[in-house]
Amino acid sequence: MSVEFDPKELRTRLEHRWGDRSPKTIANAAAGALYGTPGDWDLPADVTPQKPLLYLAVGIPDAASLPKNAFGDAASAVLGENDDRALRYGFGQGPTEIREWLSTRRNAESSYPVDVDRFQLTNGSSGAIDLIVRSLIEPGDVIVSESPVYMGTLHNFRGVQAEIDYVSVDGDGLVTDELETILEARRREGRPVKIIYTISAFQNPTGVTMSLERRHKLLDLADRFDALILDDEAYRDLWFDEPPPESLASIAGGHGVVTVGTFSKTIATGIRVGWIEAAPSLIALFSRMRFAMGQNQLGLRMLQHFLVNDGFDPHVEAVREIYRTKRDVLLDAMAKNGVDEFLDWRRPLGGFYVWAELKEPLELEALHRMALFEGIAVNSGQGFMPAGESRHIRIAYPWTPTAHIEDAIERLAIACRRVAGGKRV
Ligand SMILES: Cc1ncc(COP(=O)(O)O)c(C=O)c1O
Repeated sequence: MSVEFDPKELRTRLEHRWGDRSPKTIANAAAGALYGTPGDWDLPADVTPQKPLLYLAVGIPDAASLPKNAFGDAASAVLGENDDRALRYGFGQGPTEIREWLSTRRNAESSYPVDVDRFQLTNGSSGAIDLIVRSLIEPGDVIVSESPVYMGTLHNFRGVQAEIDYVSVDGDGLVTDELETILEARRREGRPVKIIYTISAFQNPTGVTMSLERRHKLLDLADRFDALILDDEAYRDLWFDEPPPESLASIAGGHGVVTVGTFSKTIATGIRVGWIEAAPSLIALFSRMRFAMGQNQLGLRMLQHFLVNDGFDPHVEAVREIYRTKRDVLLDAMAKNGVDEFLDWRRPLGGFYVWAELKEPLELEALHRMALFEGIAVNSGQGFMPAGESRHIRIAYPWTPTAHIEDAIERLAIACRRVAGGKRV
């Protein structure tokens, strides 16, 4: 006997089942815990800026530096070519030509041969980190991260339900004495640390670069405690006066260090191309864990065209100059406006950020809110502090037009004075 199908009745039933249902009823533990929580970098929603907002709260390249023309030419070239690779699926480790380019570059600064089979291209360095932790981490595995830290990566760690321990950062980078204490404690507990995460050059948010001596100590500890180092070199190319010390991977001869890199900070965040550099056996493992039917081939082929036609070096030299100038304008304006009465900071030698500590008794939330009210958006340090209280703000200078930076800092100085004088918004 056939039952008559009533689409309206079915739709009503489905609506009843799904309409008001919280996604938490089907989310896994990692996603369920995040659902409905605020973003790490949200600005206070209940504060209305009194002037058009000057935005120093985002780590993306200078808008005028984006190589739009070069990428326009690259698009015409790859689409005009006699093959259809730019519009086909692409599997495996990513275009050989890009990996060759990376290999040549890396060979020039490394003390061991960095062949093309040491690279896997990914959707940005966050895609790289995601792939690495999905391939290596079981729920409950222990990862040590620097703190303060770029929270996006912690999102990746939380997404695979890692347990995370934190180590501070000082002027020389990750504090290895603290790390050793954690490594020992975790070993005693029978839950050895699996991965140590560091942003070794021009760290986000502190701007600090790990000294050579610390690099040696870190590698020694990682070896003694059998942990893998995950080095996020998102900002390594963006030095102002001199390149950072030898990379962790190079010191290690390519053993026990997985490095991730990205074109997001040097070229553009929208192209979404990053990479993993690791031992070929690990790269083979990561490649097999990729189920996304490859990457965006059009973007990759355009980038390839840009790289093999020598677009990168002049571009990166030009953007270094832009960011060096912006840093100088920013720090000069901070001095000129007397911001040092309220904040302490370290002069960044590369990268995108000034990490400024509030002097007592200035209070972070009050300053963050007052700054927004005065028309300058900066990041609250709390958004980079997974455990414990922050007393910092992060001032990101790369994207803001140079002409706006002085005004922005004047506003910050006003906000500091108002908060110090007891005003609140
Ligand atoms: C340290 C660090 N790693 C990774 C990323 C992610 O960059 P992308 O995925 O665009 O390469 C960022 C972005 O801000 C970052 O600061």
